[in-house]
Amino acid sequence: MQAATNLGMVAAVTSDPKAPPSPILSGPFLSGPVILAKGLTLALGEGEARVEILRGIDLQIGAGETVALLGPSGSGKSSLLAVLSGLERMSGGTLLVAGQDFAQLSEDGLAAARRGRIGIVLQAFHLLPTMTALENVATPLELAGADDAMDIARAQLEAVGLGHRLDHYPTQLSGGEQQRVAIARALAPAPRILFADEPTGNLDAANGAAVADLLFARADAAGATLVMVTHDEDLAHRCQRIVRLADGHIVSDDAPSGSAA
Ligand SMILES: Nc1ncnc2c1ncn2[C@@H]1O[C@H](COP(=O)(O)OP(=O)(O)O)[C@@H](O)[C@H]1O
Ligand SMILES: [Mg+2]
Repeated sequence: MQAATNLGMVAAVTSDPKAPPSPILSGPFLSGPVILAKGLTLALGEGEARVEILRGIDLQIGAGETVALLGPSGSGKSSLLAVLSGLERMSGGTLLVAGQDFAQLSEDGLAAARRGRIGIVLQAFHLLPTMTALENVATPLELAGADDAMDIARAQLEAVGLGHRLDHYPTQLSGGEQQRVAIARALAPAPRILFADEPTGNLDAANGAAVADLLFARADAAGATLVMVTHDEDLAHRCQRIVRLADGHIVSDDAPSGSAA
């Protein structure tokens, strides 16, 4: 535990992943939005090939909230997640994420803004095939200059139940195990926001349910805001809030029906 260098990391490493959600960390009242979008647009392509993908998104997300982005295929969910997480540059509007003004940043600037503040889990696990589970989690930390990267990576992998798979390569792991490595990697730098795009989309029902449980538990333990793209209504209803998209617009923004929130 001498590995822990800040409070966020202590919480991320020491909390029991099976513990119930902490009311202190999961309420929106930690507040001050961590994401603030106004009139956000994304258009790709030039001339006749130009496609307007996001057509004016207004969205505020508070610290510690869990938010599902739900909608039919092609509605712009992945595009919105890519813009909010700094993977794709917005075309217009205002966007503040974790205190950074994304409208002012270049692609390199966005990459720098992501580092340490934003964790991303995608449908395809995107692990490096030549690296072990431990190296996949530790390498981004090392590149970011952490001198205790191996200790943090080991603790994160133990927290997702993979303490016995540290030296396995991705091809030696099941899909569910690979996605658990990706979750450990995303949360290892103690990001303020965890973005996930169809995180259970490549998994069977049992593995998908286990990965979803871990995602909620680990984000909560880390005190991270969770923004998750899904087209799965049941998964979306586990979030405090459901934002529905259609054709590049937000069409509703509610707490799930039947939830106590
Ligand atoms: N690189 C791209 N160039 C042009 N159109 C794109 C590109 N990426 C996505 N789109 C289009 O943008 C729309 C939204 O896509 P996407 O965000 O992937 O939707 P979702 O995740 O909700 O299925 C779709 O109509 C898709 O075809
Ligand atoms: Mg998508």
